[in-house]
Amino acid sequence: MPSSEVVVPLSTPSSPRDTLGRPVRDLRISVMDRCNFRCPYCMPREKFHERYEFLGSHERLSFDEIVRVSRVFVKLGVRKLRLTGGEPLLRANLADLIGDLTAIPGVEDVALTTNGVLLARHAAELKAAGLKRITVSLDSLDPQVFARMSGGFGGLQDVLDGIEHARSSGLEPIKINAVIEKGINDHTALDLVERFRGTGVIVRFIEYMDVGNRNDWRADLVVPSRELMARIGARWPLKPVEREYRGEVAERYEFLDGQGEVGFISSVTQPFCGDCSRARLSSDGVVYTCLFATRGTSLRDALRGGASDDQLLETLRAIWAGRADRYSERRAQLRESAGDQRKVEMFYIGG
Ligand SMILES: C[S@@+](CC[C@H](N)C(=O)[O-])C[C@H]1O[C@@H](n2cnc3c(N)ncnc32)[C@H](O)[C@@H]1O
Ligand code: SF4
Repeated sequence: MPSSEVVVPLSTPSSPRDTLGRPVRDLRISVMDRCNFRCPYCMPREKFHERYEFLGSHERLSFDEIVRVSRVFVKLGVRKLRLTGGEPLLRANLADLIGDLTAIPGVEDVALTTNGVLLARHAAELKAAGLKRITVSLDSLDPQVFARMSGGFGGLQDVLDGIEHARSSGLEPIKINAVIEKGINDHTALDLVERFRGTGVIVRFIEYMDVGNRNDWRADLVVPSRELMARIGARWPLKPVEREYRGEVAERYEFLDGQGEVGFISSVTQPFCGDCSRARLSSDGVVYTCLFATRGTSLRDALRGGASDDQLLETLRAIWAGRADRYSERRAQLRESAGDQRKVEMFYIGG
């Protein structure tokens, strides 16, 4: 039977709920901890310098190992996989992994988040391997501001070419993720809307988050989505769009003139932990149940030490059943009491 015809029931006796009643539906997979950018909000250049020790290739999960963990997660209820990083397109032969993941019975959607610099080169093969949609991070169309937001690496034109190739290869929808920081790129946010309105490309603004510890996050650099939305709405009137599914992270708004939509991801000012159904797998095989986690559970030794799929399933079930994370909702309290607790970094856990 072709894999697309295999029916995997959405709720099976083996689908666990966490301590807050949330199922596991999405798995974000960091396939590569390295990156060819140094965005200050993620991998500030002074901390991720030439001598920084990234994982060795033998430390990263192989494609076979990633596919195996994904299969087990699907048995627990996962339907969506997102490849991310670091920069996922730095991982050689990524299209092969996409082909394997899209063939897993029960997987409904495989997506990719990239900074877009290498996308022009890879868009067609990613599409041919089964990728349907793509998210490209692009924080500004102003070359100077772009350079500041990417740590001085990569070229704006390469990213724009990547988006064009994604479009001509048939990847759809294309979403743009823009992290907005007060006084740094917020004055160029409306240019992104203007550029992509009416093209089918959906721009989504992300509040600057306190992921990890190395970005020296400051609350005063966050631009609340409400503020940005008011500015955009004053120029192009907007109306809210119903969420497509429970757990959708972006709040969506349509332009009243029919020129598409814009999204806001507001983890800081409007936390959405209550519906969070995401698990995360780091490039070296550690499972985390929250973007702001301080610890996870490594599967790598079990994977390499002969554990059976049933054993992996029980490990993952126990991890999920014990999950109680709701960092964003408790941010203020947790930041105060955090002491020396180190949160995992975004490039490592995957955004
Ligand atoms: C960690 S990146 C990995 C994928 C790829 N390198 C990219 O930039 O698209 C995934 C997403 O996380 C976002 N991100 C990273 N650090 C962030 C932060 N401190 N606050 C909000 N978003 C952040 C990035 O802008 C990007 O859209
Ligand atoms: S946000 Fe993406 S492109 Fe920027 S440093 Fe982090 S991983 Fe790299």
